[in-house]
Amino acid sequence: MRSKSKKPDTLLTHAGRSPEANFGVVNPPVYHASTILHPTVAALEAAQKNRYNQVTYGRWGTPTTFAFEDAVAAVQGGYRAIAFCSGAAACYAALLAFVEQGDHVLLPDSVYGPVRGFAGGFLRRFGVEATFYDPLIGAGIADLMRERTRILYLESPGSHTFEVQDVPALVACAKARGIATLIDNTWAAPLFFKPLALGVDAEIISATKYIVGHSDAMMGVVVCGEASFARVRETASLLGNHAAPDDCYLALRGLRTAGVRMRAHEAQALALARWLAQRPEVERVLHPALPSCPGHEFWRRDFAGASGLFSIVLKRDIPKPAVDAMLDGMELFGIGASWGGFESLILPGHPERLRSARPWQDGAVVRLHAGLEDQGDLIADLERGFARLNAAR
Ligand SMILES: Cc1ncc(COP(=O)(O)O)c(C=O)c1O
Repeated sequence: MRSKSKKPDTLLTHAGRSPEANFGVVNPPVYHASTILHPTVAALEAAQKNRYNQVTYGRWGTPTTFAFEDAVAAVQGGYRAIAFCSGAAACYAALLAFVEQGDHVLLPDSVYGPVRGFAGGFLRRFGVEATFYDPLIGAGIADLMRERTRILYLESPGSHTFEVQDVPALVACAKARGIATLIDNTWAAPLFFKPLALGVDAEIISATKYIVGHSDAMMGVVVCGEASFARVRETASLLGNHAAPDDCYLALRGLRTAGVRMRAHEAQALALARWLAQRPEVERVLHPALPSCPGHEFWRRDFAGASGLFSIVLKRDIPKPAVDAMLDGMELFGIGASWGGFESLILPGHPERLRSARPWQDGAVVRLHAGLEDQGDLIADLERGFARLNAAR
């Protein structure tokens, strides 16, 4: 298929498929493999030299892995994609691919918590220093760049607080200094934002979220431009990274319906966010598609839609036990990590425990994932939650 001329929904449906090579079977089959047999030593050696393009050894990918990687690369407009066993593994490998001892990296203050820990803790042990910047800094990022800055890491919108970043302005500053840009695009992938088209070097997606879409498998993927592919691919191999073929299959199957699911999550989240914005207990709604969200203007400019994850900030005088009372009794909103599945979720966020560039001084943050349930049922569940909150105040 000539992917460049096709629209996103067509790519989601067709990319990475080859029924003609599989007896007409619509979905690529699951190939389980460690050993791959070669007819001669010469064939083995040729395959090893070409290991990222052909099936050579299970750890470097089976036909199922390659089908998933090809599909995501086509959908995101990348040169190649690399599958990982989790989104976190994808984040860490992408960071490691670009640094050596003595280097410096820049990450947004709103970065996913475990990535903050990896950069500020693990990388530090190997002599790489991390600075956390205000996610809304824009072109001001130039002032934080040093001689040894190697990576400008972005995550837009940010975890829990949803600041939308000015990606073109940040990329321009990094390019002027030859600094690599990486972005965690999990929130909007695979439908609503294509950062490689704006010059980002590599895009990281936790496929665990909307790509798998059913809360039953963990996967990550890094989508690379041509210049960054070899580095990330080699780093993934050196780390012994391997994405299981069953999970690649589930992720590829999820990708086929991600378009309709994401639009349904979008509509549901917007309806809930607007309803929540009217509640007297809510100080602010942090949803990128609403003007109350920091960086909303960049969402309007750069994104084609919004997914199902957003937060509310509660009034400052609402104490923790009242927030807990609300969350504890929810019937349809589950309390649990991750998001992007078909079900609604609710979780307390704690930016006050992490932020350093812009300390969090507002009220309690509650993150919601809008699932595919009936809207009236979800609102009734939230309404009962607010009643519990007010009774415990
Ligand atoms: C923004 C973001 N990036 C990365 C990850 C890590 O993905 P995984 O849970 O697949 O390791 C998460 C997980 O919640 C996330 O929210």
